[in-house]
Amino acid sequence: MKTAVQFLALRTIVRGYALLGDPYAGVMALSPNRDPYALYEKVRARGDLVRSRMGAYVSPSREICDSVLRDNRFITATFDEASMVPITLVRDGEKVVNPVQDSFLMKNPPDHTRLRRLVQPFFTPRALKDRTESIRRIVANHLDGLGDRFDLVSDFASQVPIQVIADLLGIPDGHQDTFARWGSALAETLDGVWSHKQLKNLHTTISEYNDFIDVLIEERRRAPQDDIVSHLVTRHADLSREDLVATTGLLLFAGFETTVNLIGNGVLKAFENPHTVAPLAQSPEYAEGFVEEVLRLDPPVQYTIRWPKERLELGGVSLAAGTPVMLVLAAANRDPRVFDNPSAFDPARSNAREHLAFSAGIHYCIGAGLSRIEGAVALHELFKRFPGLAQDGPVARRRSRLIRGALRLPVRTNETKRSLAVRQS
Ligand code: HEM
Repeated sequence: MKTAVQFLALRTIVRGYALLGDPYAGVMALSPNRDPYALYEKVRARGDLVRSRMGAYVSPSREICDSVLRDNRFITATFDEASMVPITLVRDGEKVVNPVQDSFLMKNPPDHTRLRRLVQPFFTPRALKDRTESIRRIVANHLDGLGDRFDLVSDFASQVPIQVIADLLGIPDGHQDTFARWGSALAETLDGVWSHKQLKNLHTTISEYNDFIDVLIEERRRAPQDDIVSHLVTRHADLSREDLVATTGLLLFAGFETTVNLIGNGVLKAFENPHTVAPLAQSPEYAEGFVEEVLRLDPPVQYTIRWPKERLELGGVSLAAGTPVMLVLAAANRDPRVFDNPSAFDPARSNAREHLAFSAGIHYCIGAGLSRIEGAVALHELFKRFPGLAQDGPVARRRSRLIRGALRLPVRTNETKRSLAVRQS
C-alpha cells in the first residue's frame, strides 16, 4: 500500500514537471510512440548542461557526456541508493539478486574493476574473432526457419543475440522465449519502476531467473564445460553467490536486450532509406559502416546517469555531491559540433564511430565488439537472403525510455515462388 502511494506520487510529480517543460521529467515521462529526438533538440537549444527542477541536470553535449563518463569523481548508483522507490526483494531471508542493479554495471571501483576483469577475457578481439563463424551459423539457421511473413523482432532480431550470449554462457537451447520475456520485464524497469504492477513483475522475473541460474551453476560446478559460467565457478570459486548470479545475469540480459534493438533499428533504417538495401546485402564492409551509423543515429541505449561523489565544477556549473546528471547519449550522438548534418542517416560517415552508444570510460560496454559483429552479420545476411523485405504492419515500440527499439515489427519477404525455388535448388 505504501509503495502504491509512493508510485502514484512519483508519476504525478514527474508528469507535472514534464508538462512544465522540465528536461529531466520530459525524458522520464516520454511516451514510447513519441519521437525522443525532437525533445532532445529542445534540451540542446537550452544549453550543454540544463538544470531540472527535480534536482538533476541533463546534458545533450557530446563533450560533457564523454568527460563525465571518463571522470572518476562521477559514480553510478542503484535505484535504492539513488533513493527512488526501493525495489530490492528478500525471499526466505535471502536477497534475490537483481542481474542489473546488483551487477558490476552499477558498481564503482574497486568492486567494479574486480568483477569486470573476471569476464573480460571472453570479449577480447581474439576471442571475438573465434566467435564470428558461430555467429554466421546462428544467423543462417534462424534465416532458414523463416516463412514469407514473420515478426522481425521475435522471430529473428531477438533470437540471434539470445542464442549467441546463451552459447557463450553455456546455457542449453530451449529457453529463448523465457529469456525474451524476462529481458523485456527487466528492460522496462531500467528507467525506474513506476507502478506496483511493474514492481511485482520485476520481482517475479528476478525470482525465476535466480532459480534458473542456481540450477545451471550447480550443473557446471559438477561438470564444467567450455563456457563463462564454468569458467567462473571453477577458476573463481571464491566468488560470492550474489556476484556470480549478477555477473552471469548482466551478461545474459545486456547481451541481448540491446542487440535485438540494434538489429530492429537497423532494419527500420534500411526501410526508411531503400537505397541502402542493395549495398547492405552485397557488402559485409558496408554493413559494418551501416551498423555504426545506426548506433549513432538511433542507439538502443538512450541515456545513462552519473552522480558526482564530491562538489565539483562541470560546464561552468557548480554541482553538489549526489546531484544526478543525465547523460543523453542519443543526443550527444547528434551533437552538430562533432557530426555534420547530424540527423541525416549516412552509412559512409567517416566519424560515425565517435558516437557514445556504448558509453565511455570504465563502464564502456564490454560487449561492443560482439554486438557490432552480430549486428553487421545479421543485417547483411537478412537483406542478402530477402532483398525484397518490406514492412507489413505498424511497429509497436518498447515501453522503456532508456532502451529504444521495436517490440513488434511485422515484415514480409516479397519472395516469388520462383526465387524461392532457385534458392532451394
Ligand atoms: C547494440 C548493443 C549494445 C549496446 C547499445 C550496449 C550499450 C551499453 C552501454 C551504453 C553501456 C554502459 C552504460 C553506462 O555507462 O551506464 C553498456 C555496458 C555494458 N554492456 Fe553493453 N551494449 C550492447 C551490447 C552488449 C552485449 C552484446 C553485451 C554482452 C555480451 C553487453 C554487456 C555489457 C556489460 C557487461 C556492460 C557493463 C560494463 C561495465 O559496467 O563495466 N552489452 N552497454
